[in-house]
Amino acid sequence: MTPPRSLLFVCLGNICRSPMAEGIFIHHAKMRQVLENLAVDSCGLGSWHVGQSPDPRAIATCAKHGIELPSIARQFAPSTDIERFDLLLAMDETNAKTLEKRGAPRSKIRLMRSFDVAAEQLLDDQGQPTQTGAIDVPDPYYGGDDGFDQVFEMLTRACEGLLDQID
Ligand code: 4NP
Repeated sequence: MTPPRSLLFVCLGNICRSPMAEGIFIHHAKMRQVLENLAVDSCGLGSWHVGQSPDPRAIATCAKHGIELPSIARQFAPSTDIERFDLLLAMDETNAKTLEKRGAPRSKIRLMRSFDVAAEQLLDDQGQPTQTGAIDVPDPYYGGDDGFDQVFEMLTRACEGLLDQID
């Protein structure tokens, strides 16, 4: 496979997990001086938050680490996104299934934490989660601020793993 050059981070609302993934990925890609070779975006499968900035807790968590979030929420657009992006990085298994239902080929869909070294022991020989949801990035929207810190750590490791594979 030629290395993926265009990456779309996908979650449900596009105000917590996928904009954090996008911002963290951009930050690390810049540090590695590879951002100019890549196209990066994020989107949500729902439409509730279209046009909004990320959740203030997502912004604050990333700001603690010197990372800004450029995202303005938009909804996944099958007619253009499936063709335009090499990889669709789903934050959880439900997101991955929804992407398939909306016409995305399985070959373009990956679970974000399949690139997280700390999730390796939760994958079987085929690279599938040992239990349903085992490597999901948990949705922090309805929880407290510590949920955002946990998501930040997971996404940072996953972005590093992803960059290791496409560098
Ligand atoms: P996200 O979190 O998918 O990580 O952006 C959510 C944000 C909002 C909602 C669901 C998930 N919502 O139902 O409004």
